Amino acid sequence: MSYNIAIDGPAGAGKSTIAKKIAKELSYIYVDTGAMYRAMALFFIRQGIRPEETEKINQACQQADITISYQDGEQMVMLNGENVNGFIRTEEVGNMASATSVNQNVRVKMVELQQQLAKTTDVIMDGRDIGTKVLPDAVLKIYLTASSRIRAERRYKELQEKQVDCDLKTIEKDIVDRDYRDMHRENSPLMQAEDAILVDSSNMSIDEAVKTIIDLFQERV
Ligand code: DC
Repeated sequence: MSYNIAIDGPAGAGKSTIAKKIAKELSYIYVDTGAMYRAMALFFIRQGIRPEETEKINQACQQADITISYQDGEQMVMLNGENVNGFIRTEEVGNMASATSVNQNVRVKMVELQQQLAKTTDVIMDGRDIGTKVLPDAVLKIYLTASSRIRAERRYKELQEKQVDCDLKTIEKDIVDRDYRDMHRENSPLMQAEDAILVDSSNMSIDEAVKTIIDLFQERV
């Protein structure tokens, strides 16, 4: 019996912050699958490849070796041996990851790696297709969401704290566009798995969402 936890949901719903806290409380390994798609996207950007260049993406994705390691419980994404954590959190890389994750070759490669990671140890994994595709047997599946305005406001605050120049309208538009792309792609679109529980974090603090999910987990096991 595996006790994996799957958390899916749109960009900015708080998945990684919440999943990280849950991992700490349960002494679980946290796997951030978005970071893997971001590392792949960074590789494409560095090669000067555009999202519509499918053939080039198919070829380049074979040359990108993506692995995960952990330092003090923090996930490190390695791209061909280089730790790229410091490069993957930009809007440019996020949008490129959304655009290139529609590619079937990219997805097959990432899903294999993710399933491999969950084979040897129980994990809490977040992404877009974890409950529906990567970990269909997860003991708990959560679909974590929040309104696009609230998600944009959270992102805006985060960027302001990092002193990145930005405006709320553009961020909200990016979020709405990204939701649309992630939910309407042909391969493994973002959707709530049939057996997933919906958690709307719009009016919840991070700690409230963490508690809600841990309570649900404890009911299950
Ligand atoms: O969660 P994130 O913002 O870091 O993810 C970046 C993009 O990667 C997201 O817009 C879609 C893609 N992604 C995916 O297709 N499947 C996943 N399991 C995780 C991310």
